[in-house]
Amino acid sequence: MKPGTKEQAAIYRLDRTEVYQHWRDDKLSHAPIDASEILVEIEDIGAPSQDESAEILRHCCHNNMALYRYKNGDDDEQSARSKAHAFAHHFGLHRVEQHRSMNPDGLVSIEVINENSSEGRAGFIPYTDKPISWHTDGYYNPTASRVKAMMMHCVRAAPEGGLTELFDPELAYIRLRDENPDYISALSHRRTLTIPAFAENGGVTRAQSVGPVFTWDRYTGNLHMRFTDRKRNIEWCKDEITAEAVGFLRHVLESDEHVLKYKMNAGEGIICNNVLHNRSAFEDNNKPNAGRLLMRARYLDRIEGTCD
Ligand SMILES: [Fe+2]
Repeated sequence: MKPGTKEQAAIYRLDRTEVYQHWRDDKLSHAPIDASEILVEIEDIGAPSQDESAEILRHCCHNNMALYRYKNGDDDEQSARSKAHAFAHHFGLHRVEQHRSMNPDGLVSIEVINENSSEGRAGFIPYTDKPISWHTDGYYNPTASRVKAMMMHCVRAAPEGGLTELFDPELAYIRLRDENPDYISALSHRRTLTIPAFAENGGVTRAQSVGPVFTWDRYTGNLHMRFTDRKRNIEWCKDEITAEAVGFLRHVLESDEHVLKYKMNAGEGIICNNVLHNRSAFEDNNKPNAGRLLMRARYLDRIEGTCD
């Protein structure tokens, strides 16, 4: 079935069992079980070749994500910054989410920041060596600025830990629907998940965000997932079926054979349609300018050619 079509959109209608089953079976038969299956080696991420781009796009079409290894990559941050951008542009990613911690070039540096620092990133989990639980990016954003794609590029890896797990939201949808279609109804409700407003320096810097976990475009069939497994400052709809659905999703994320595990090394990265991901704790290198450093950019559009 060609993604990005009305036929694809019918998959998500609970009364269209046949269309769903056909898509589901096909999707599962191709779903990777090892991260190496979606890893593409690239000579120069600043200018990927036609074949390399096609390979990246193929993985993104089938699995909503691709990992890449920049064969000639080094740990020169400045060069990596400019090349990472060029790489994303190559896949139609131009509209960057305006993030409070981003540099003027639109990239956010994910690194450990001393919690006593006056730096704006200090005190937030991504900028520590602690684990980050399962989430999709921008789950607290309003609908108009949904994060539809994301890339992370590793400039320097941690000596120990810092493993990433990845899971395609379409597979999460399949597991939930197969278990109980009512889980899909519960997680598609417009008030399923509330993230309270965030206040800082005496003012609200981010409004309350209320919305579903799953939404899909009625015309293109593109699925969007909004999820966080954090336990504090979050309110789930207080009914039994939602609690059951979230519990089952957690079980899937802990045990599914299609959860991909990968430790990104220097020069490697991920480009994706905002898939579910997490991070394990790590031990950082404490020498100056030698600590773990990832660069991340979030985009308001899906990867071009993956159907939007
Ligand atoms: Fe993230």
